[in-house]
Amino acid sequence: MAKAELRARYNPSMELAVETRGLTRDFGTFRAVDGIDLAVPAGSFYGFLGPNGAGKSTTIRCLTGLIRPSAGSMRILGTDPVADPVSVKRRTGVVPEDLALFDRLTAEETLFFVAQIHGMPTATARARSEDLLTMMDLKDAGTTLVTDFSHGMRKKLSLAAALIPGPRLLFLDEPFEGIDAVASRQIKELMLSFVSRGGTIFLTSHILEIVERLSTHIGVIADGKLVAQGHIDELRAGSGSGKTLEELFIGLVGGDLRPQTALDWI
Ligand SMILES: Nc1ncnc2c1ncn2[C@@H]1O[C@H](COP(=O)(O)OP(=O)(O)OP(=O)(O)O)[C@@H](O)[C@H]1O
Ligand SMILES: [Mg+2]
Repeated sequence: MAKAELRARYNPSMELAVETRGLTRDFGTFRAVDGIDLAVPAGSFYGFLGPNGAGKSTTIRCLTGLIRPSAGSMRILGTDPVADPVSVKRRTGVVPEDLALFDRLTAEETLFFVAQIHGMPTATARARSEDLLTMMDLKDAGTTLVTDFSHGMRKKLSLAAALIPGPRLLFLDEPFEGIDAVASRQIKELMLSFVSRGGTIFLTSHILEIVERLSTHIGVIADGKLVAQGHIDELRAGSGSGKTLEELFIGLVGGDLRPQTALDWI
């Protein structure tokens, strides 16, 4: 399905796949995430943007149960992940920033292990694993230990591991970082088909061209605060016509759009 169709299908009364109220996370005296109210419609492709250190990964770690929020509430697919983490984990997939793979397993073993945790029948696990390894171009590396994988291969395996249980919601922290052009294209196609079948994607990326092409919705975080959120067309319309996502982003996070003077010693 083309992105225009995905956008047109969007209806503001859609239920929310991710909803937070006042989500806050402190590290000691430092507030990394500062009372954010996320609203991610079910079936949307939500691009979560922000400068380095803005709080994106910390937010994803709270939403996926890796760390506990210091304050605020969350609902993921209608369930409170603090009260019922297993129900949420059963229906969500995550590619974390640090990938979190087991070095001493092969790609096949990794996928089979994840499938087993989810109680998947062996035949289904084998068939899905084969499909995913082929699609990610990891088939030849099926018996190589993860410790010998390149960075991009790890990223693709982590995405395959997130997809194998058939989640309804995917959290992807920088899925395109370090990925080659061919794989990047395959992953984009895969994501669009996931969303066109009713799945929801919550993604962070610094590659604004990709986010602009894929996302139906955008949230922007700066210094832990949500500074903008909504349908991408509405955000653009509200900021004056003809702005690219990059211009909109730099304006929202307080960056300088003027040409910079080069350092004279470079
Ligand atoms: N475990 C931790 N202990 C202390 N501070 C932390 C910890 N994790 C994150 N932070 C701080 O919280 C802030 C937000 O970090 P986070 O990783 O969420 O940023 P990000 O938006 O994902 O950035 P990037 O685009 O660089 O990945 C940063 O200032 C970081 O130093
Ligand atoms: Mg991060």
